[in-house]
Amino acid sequence: MTINSEFHEPNSTKHIFPKGDKVLIAYASETGTAQALAKRIFIENQSRCDFINIADIKPELLEAYGQQVFVVSTFGDGQAPVNARPFFSALQRSSIQLKGVRCAVLALGNKHYPNFCEFGKNLAEQLTQLGADQRLPITKINRADPAEFSHWWLKLGETFTLNVEQELDEWMVATVMDVEKHDEASIDLIFYIQSLEHAHTNALLFQPKTKRKNITPLSLATKAEMHSPFTFVNLTYEMVERDQSGIVKQLFSATSGDKWHVRVPGLDSDAKMEATR
Ligand SMILES: Cc1cc2nc3c(=O)[nH]c(=O)nc-3n(C[C@H](O)[C@H](O)[C@H](O)COP(=O)(O)O)c2cc1C
Repeated sequence: MTINSEFHEPNSTKHIFPKGDKVLIAYASETGTAQALAKRIFIENQSRCDFINIADIKPELLEAYGQQVFVVSTFGDGQAPVNARPFFSALQRSSIQLKGVRCAVLALGNKHYPNFCEFGKNLAEQLTQLGADQRLPITKINRADPAEFSHWWLKLGETFTLNVEQELDEWMVATVMDVEKHDEASIDLIFYIQSLEHAHTNALLFQPKTKRKNITPLSLATKAEMHSPFTFVNLTYEMVERDQSGIVKQLFSATSGDKWHVRVPGLDSDAKMEATR
């Protein structure tokens, strides 16, 4: 087979964005949650990012950025926060070109509302229609769940080469895959921890989803299952009664899909922690 070295891919024009490799961190917020989460990302990446409220811009500004991250909430009946509505109407009417733009949308909402995260979804669709490339699947977060947010930020960091908070780096996200009930007083929780897949540890430190700083993480023994990508933790009702932190009680009522922050013990700061076994 001969390879034609003269061959060039046709029309492979690279888009030049006036803001170079700056990442736009944009938010739309009614009561401040989306703004606060977006700001945390911005604070860790100030030299590379611009931070804006979409209520303050016109859609044309989006053409300046090759990388765009949106953190937006939903209000009313599946609508944008009030001050972001003029922007979104303008975006729906606009003919801006977002070809070559890499973007990601984080949608905040509450599952109690029938149109869960509808504005985030509509925004992502509109951006796609204008040519933007969604580099992460649109992610919907219920009640600004901190573990879900961490999980998304870690993925965002990998995709856009953005920094994450140091604390997030140390903590891994453990997703409950299944709960096996042995009897009323004993269950196995089966976790999937991406960064631990197929590696084994004798214990994990658990931090509640809220990650409130005044709660001491709890160390729980893990069961090794050779060749399994999952991590097993056995909980008994006796442990619930002994545990002062309340973490075991929360874990006891965990269901599939719940996310926890975990860490392998061993850091200096873990030295004082007591294992509950
Ligand atoms: C009056 C009101 C209406 C809301 N409507 C929706 C909705 O239609 N869909 C949804 O998913 N969440 C809805 N939410 C939940 C918010 O999106 C959620 O609390 C979000 O975290 C708020 O973020 P923000 O503080 O940045 O505005 C509503 C909340 C309130 C108070």
